[in-house]
Amino acid sequence: MDLIVKRPYGTRDMVPAQAYKWHTVEKLAMETAEQYGFKEIRFPTFEETKLFKRSVGDATDVVQKEMYGVFAQSTENGKDEDGFTLRPEGTAGTVRAVLENGLLNEAMPQKVYYIISCFRHERPQAGRLREFHQFGAEMFGSDSPAADAELIAMAKGFMDRLGISGVELFINSIGCPVCRKQYHAALKAYFEERKDNLCDTCKGRLDKNPMRILDCKSPVCSGIAKDAPVILDFLCDECREHFEKLKENLSVMGIEYSVNPKIVRGLDYYTKTVFEFVASDIGAQSTICGGGRYDGLVEQLGGPKTPALGFAMGLERLIMTMENQGCDFIPEKKCDLYIASMGEAAAKKALSLAKELRDEGFWVEYDLMGRGLKAQMKYADKIGAAFSMVIGDNELENNGANLKNMRTGEQIPLRFDDGFIENFSNIVVGDMFSDTMNNI
Ligand code: HAM
Repeated sequence: MDLIVKRPYGTRDMVPAQAYKWHTVEKLAMETAEQYGFKEIRFPTFEETKLFKRSVGDATDVVQKEMYGVFAQSTENGKDEDGFTLRPEGTAGTVRAVLENGLLNEAMPQKVYYIISCFRHERPQAGRLREFHQFGAEMFGSDSPAADAELIAMAKGFMDRLGISGVELFINSIGCPVCRKQYHAALKAYFEERKDNLCDTCKGRLDKNPMRILDCKSPVCSGIAKDAPVILDFLCDECREHFEKLKENLSVMGIEYSVNPKIVRGLDYYTKTVFEFVASDIGAQSTICGGGRYDGLVEQLGGPKTPALGFAMGLERLIMTMENQGCDFIPEKKCDLYIASMGEAAAKKALSLAKELRDEGFWVEYDLMGRGLKAQMKYADKIGAAFSMVIGDNELENNGANLKNMRTGEQIPLRFDDGFIENFSNIVVGDMFSDTMNNI
């Protein structure tokens, strides 16, 4: 086939055979979030570019190299020199929406979660896409390290529910603006001595934010960054105590972790706690979940001083891990009944029976292709219908037909008038039960 248009590089189509796996992950994400008192928030796919510049940070790879601008045909946004950008992540949009909708005036802590698509113009590879999806959670109002532990526990609890194992948790503290001043000075001095070998972007970062050099993807810069000073040696007393309490809380909750002083995260808004969950079996793009505290961001975006924290997980990476580890997905739903018919009157009866059953919540199908009986039954088999029924002149005359169990071949007579729905329900539920028992 010579397609005129193909999907954009770095994006994926989600065909039905894949989509049911996503339903498992999304369902369990929502259930887990609700167990911890998080409610869903939805916000636009695109926002004013300055939102991302101010939160994610001007000197980050995401803002400098990876954002997709939105071109509007009509330039109503003429007053905004930066225009709009597709969201590269969910925290900035969440904070903006939380502020704009006054959620911080409600009971604290405010806890919201989202399942969204994000866009980053990165070099695609396994586990790295240009359009990808995140399950994220954000909490506002608590500065307690217990909140950091709670979020980490929720992320871990979710992965446990999905059946994922062998994922390691790494934590670090990147301090607050007070301790970071000294750290920046030490980093700057270190990189200044090696400036000639840094990439051009990192040379520019030296004055703006030398911490960003630590997560540059260029092999030369990351080689130099290996021996750079680490933030843990510069933490002020408050940040150090916060980090110690977090570790205590994690131990009390039985959550294993390793401290990795090299984790700085690629986004500018973080303060104090940062963490990552890393899988061992999905290749180079192995960070499934990243998060941390961002105590300054709400104020930075025009809100009241409010501590906050959150995490986000890449759904593609989660599903890849589940597939690699042979985790179970909630099975795809199957058609309950296929009604095959012969002749016009029978086709009409199929229509009315299907309507009755669908009104009760059953999945019912009948012929839409003008097929003969044999071809209709072949189709019923192909779609995996649990039951089938053939309606012809005899069935119309008798006001009833045989319900065929497609798995066992058993035929059960069913009248169309007398308790049709109730009898059909009992048979279907009974079959589901015996099928489950057979599989135990
Ligand atoms: P992030 O580390 O940039 O953090 O992204 C979170 C997760 O999204 C990553 O761990 C990864 O699983 C997935 N991800 C990121 N980029 C890609 C990509 N190009 N292709 C596939 N998956 C990707 C954030 O986005 C923060 N907003 C997390 C956060 C929430 N921090 C506080 N609250």
